Amino acid sequence: MHITKRGFRGLLTLAATGALVAGLSACSGGADAGSTGDAAGGDDVVTVGFVAVGPEGGWRNANEQAIKDAFTKDAGFDLKYAPAASPSDQKSQLDAFSTFVNDEVDVILLTATEASGWEDELKKAKEAEIPVILLDRGVDAPSDLYVTRIAPDNTQVAKSVGEWAVTAFPQGANYFVLEGVPGLSVVNERNEGFDSAIAGKSGWNKVGAQTANWKTDEGKSVIETVLKANNNDIQFIFAQNDEMGIGAAQAVTAAGLKPGTDVKIATIDGTKGALEALAKGDLSFVAQYNPFFGTDAVDAVKKALAGESVDSTIIVKSATFDSPEAGQKALDEGLGF
Ligand code: AHR
Repeated sequence: MHITKRGFRGLLTLAATGALVAGLSACSGGADAGSTGDAAGGDDVVTVGFVAVGPEGGWRNANEQAIKDAFTKDAGFDLKYAPAASPSDQKSQLDAFSTFVNDEVDVILLTATEASGWEDELKKAKEAEIPVILLDRGVDAPSDLYVTRIAPDNTQVAKSVGEWAVTAFPQGANYFVLEGVPGLSVVNERNEGFDSAIAGKSGWNKVGAQTANWKTDEGKSVIETVLKANNNDIQFIFAQNDEMGIGAAQAVTAAGLKPGTDVKIATIDGTKGALEALAKGDLSFVAQYNPFFGTDAVDAVKKALAGESVDSTIIVKSATFDSPEAGQKALDEGLGF
């Protein structure tokens, strides 16, 4: 028996008010009363369409695995994973989204490869009464077209980088910014957060900014060019993710300079590779962008399907690591991913 979305919401509401779990069992033919569905994929399993980015780097792998680990069959879900054709391809995402709407999944999770271009598809999902939950990245669309966005606060995470940089360089610095893929909400938010921390501080000279598309090799080649063009007169590099920052450190070393001494590099994410580079002194500051929000997503999905209110944004707490000792401690505690 397929429970309609409205019927499922009613059941969840019943269960949520503790009124009766027998109703769940009766509908699902004796499924474990505590589950939202049976592990065999019976009709009352919640079907989740996950419009994802796919393989992109350490952070993405950790984040998408956390979602897969949370939306399991045993937990009552049928997760349909749809990675993009490539990390910057939007067409494959729009196609997957449209397919999920046509297939009448119960809910859609979306991590967008582009911020713009989603309004029409989001409207179709709303007309089909399919709730959409944004993971990690925001989109340029009215907020009533999606339930919530779950992510660490990019602006605050980047502001913590700027605040650290201001203490590390009391006289200011010539600095360069390695940005992620252009146009993404997280790139704009990270620029805004970093800039807010150094606003009004004297001696800060932005030599330039350029995308390295989240990649180590591109981060290295951009910084090689920047160092040559500026006679190595760069003291600080803000890399908007770990992989680009590690590439920058390689370029600094190749230029005969010492990362952490001649040029300090700060990054965002908190992957194991970055914490190792921090412990080694190649990076000077790592702001975690916590990828582990699978349970937050499950909670938001259940509330949305039960017709309960969900906060418009769900902020995931993240840490910062500001020394080789902090990096080693984080590694010892297994915080890298
Ligand atoms: O959207 C989050 C960013 O995307 C991460 O910081 C980066 O590593 C990933 O590619």
